[in-house]
Amino acid sequence: MSFEANKGADVKYQGIEKTYSAMQALRPTTLEIRSGEFFSIIGPSGSGKSTLLGVTVGFIPPTGGKILIDGSDVVGIPPYRRNIGMVFQSYSLFPHMTAAENIAFPLRMRRVPKPEIQAKVERVLSMVRLAGMGDRQPAQLSGGQRQRVALARAAVYDPGLLLMDEPLSALDKNLREEMQNEIMQFQQQIETTVLYVTHDQNEATYMSDRIAIMNNGMVEQVGTPVELYENPRNKFVASFLGEANIFAVSSIEGSGSAVTARTEQGFVLRTAGSVPKGESISVCVRPEHMTIERTKTSADNSLEGQVVDAMFSSGHLIYRIQLQGGLTITQKVPNVDGRFKPEKGETVTLSWSADRTLLVGD
Ligand SMILES: Nc1ncnc2c1ncn2[C@@H]1O[C@H](COP(=O)(O)OP(=O)(O)O)[C@@H](O)[C@H]1O
Ligand SMILES: [Mg+2]
Repeated sequence: MSFEANKGADVKYQGIEKTYSAMQALRPTTLEIRSGEFFSIIGPSGSGKSTLLGVTVGFIPPTGGKILIDGSDVVGIPPYRRNIGMVFQSYSLFPHMTAAENIAFPLRMRRVPKPEIQAKVERVLSMVRLAGMGDRQPAQLSGGQRQRVALARAAVYDPGLLLMDEPLSALDKNLREEMQNEIMQFQQQIETTVLYVTHDQNEATYMSDRIAIMNNGMVEQVGTPVELYENPRNKFVASFLGEANIFAVSSIEGSGSAVTARTEQGFVLRTAGSVPKGESISVCVRPEHMTIERTKTSADNSLEGQVVDAMFSSGHLIYRIQLQGGLTITQKVPNVDGRFKPEKGETVTLSWSADRTLLVGD
C-alpha cells in the first residue's frame, strides 16, 4: 500500500521569477523547503504568493530560474508529470461526479488498475473522515466536507509535495480552525511536504514549521513562527506578523548591550540586539511586552501617556495610549484579577525591558 515510503520532496527555488509584460509578479527568488516540512507563504493580496505556487505546479511558466524538486529541475515539465498535489480555495471538484469519483480521477488519469483505485480511494476517504460518504455528490456535502474531498483528491496519488492556495478562506472561523487541525494531522499521516499559502498570519503561525513572508513579489524573511515574531528584519515583517508598536529612530548611540535609540518624538529608548544596516531604522515593541502602571517605574524603558481607549477582546485587555507628542501605542495584557485596569482618560506609565525593544530596518 502507498503512503508509507513517502517522506516528502525537498524544493529548491533558484532565482525563480515571473514577469507579466512590465509587472514583476515574482522577483528573482531563492528559497529552500525541506523534506516533510509544513511551509507557509504569507503576505498581502498581490504579493506573489499564488504566482509562486503556479510556477511550482507548472500552470504558470516562469520568466527565469530553476525549481529543483528532489534535485531535478521541473521547469518545462508539464504539471501532471511533476508529482505535485494541489488544493485551491474554491474546491474545484467535478460537480457531476461523486466524492469517490472525484478522488479516483487522478488515479484514472494515471492508469492505475481498478482494484487498486478502489482501495486507495477507500483509504484516503477514511483518512479525511469521510468513510461511507463516497457516493455523495459535492452538492450533498458541507463546505468542510468538500474541502476534505479536495484534500483527498490532491493526496491520493502520493505526491511528494502538496500545494494549498488559501484552502480554508471560504470557511467560517470555527470550521476553519477545525480544518487547520485536520490538515496538520493529515500531513503527519501521509508525510508529504506541504507548501501552504494563506493571507491569515495566525493560521500560518499555528500550522507551520517555517514561514516565508512575501511583499511586492519578494520574500522579505524566512523563519520559524517564533523567529519571525521575535526577530523581524524590518517594519513590514514586524507589522504583518502580529501587532507592533513602531517608533521611527533619528539616531543610535552606544554598542553591544548598551545601545540607545533616540526616536523622532525625542524619546530615548534602551534596546538590545544588533543594529540593522541601512539608513532607516525603527524600534519595534510588541503590545504584550509592555506593562501598564500607575506611576513611573525603574524599567529599562518607561514612558508616560494617556489612555484614549480601553477595550476587551477574548480574554485580553487592549489599551490605546497616547504619548507626549501624539504617537499612539497599543498595549495588551491578559485580563486577570488583581491587575491595574485604568480607565479612559487616566494618565499611566508604559514600561518594558531593553530585551523587548527590537531594532528593525526599513
Ligand atoms: N495573468 C496575469 N497577468 C498580469 N498580471 C498578473 C497575472 N496574474 C497575476 N498578476 C499580478 O501579479 C501580482 C501577484 O499576483 P498573485 O501571485 O496572484 O498574488 P497573491 O496570490 O499574493 O495575491 C499581482 O499584482 C497580480 O495582479
Ligand atoms: Mg493568491
